[in-house]
Amino acid sequence: MLRVAVLVSGGGTNLGALLDAVDSHRIENAKIVRVISNNPNAYALTRAKDHGVEALCISPKSFETRELFNEALLSALKECNPDLIVLAGFLVNIPESIVKTFKNRIINIHPSLIPSFCGKGYYGLKVHEAVLARGVKVTGATVHFVDEGIDTGRIIAQKAVEVMPGDTPEVLQKRVMEQAEWIILPEAVAKIARGEISIGEGV
Ligand code: GAR
Repeated sequence: MLRVAVLVSGGGTNLGALLDAVDSHRIENAKIVRVISNNPNAYALTRAKDHGVEALCISPKSFETRELFNEALLSALKECNPDLIVLAGFLVNIPESIVKTFKNRIINIHPSLIPSFCGKGYYGLKVHEAVLARGVKVTGATVHFVDEGIDTGRIIAQKAVEVMPGDTPEVLQKRVMEQAEWIILPEAVAKIARGEISIGEGV
């Protein structure tokens, strides 16, 4: 059984897609063991609790320094002994200590076709604002391994989504979620649980 920890910051629709995929057996042989948010008001925490999944908040605001927050996050992850960590809309930079401890065991969903519209400053709605400002006609989403950089790790899956005339950032964000993110993220976890994508040291 693949033990999965999910890190979230907001609404948690990607977490919802993972929970649904486990419930409907599209993801088999995996269990979401803990959900951690940096934001106490994240609706994602409620989604987790409603599914009987342990949910906790570790807010940087509760710690005197960033280092202490990073240590607390690392401890909370180690404590639940995950095989896989999924960043599902986690808008905090993952410290090197966590990347090293869980080498090739952390994956992220990003709302664009990497290497477009990614890296520092590109997160959430800002990605879709930039896509519309640039006028590209196709965008999408990417699932990738997390390394020490921002959105630089090895790509696992991508799916393209059309940009439509008259799109607002919010409309485009919803389409990218529905047509790409909520599909490729559960699929990637399912493949990892089936051993079709290798994780961990030596990958
Ligand atoms: C999603 O669109 C996700 O791809 C994005 O934040 C949103 C979270 O939504 N992540 C990033 O931008 C990471 N750089 P959700 O909380 O409803 O899943």
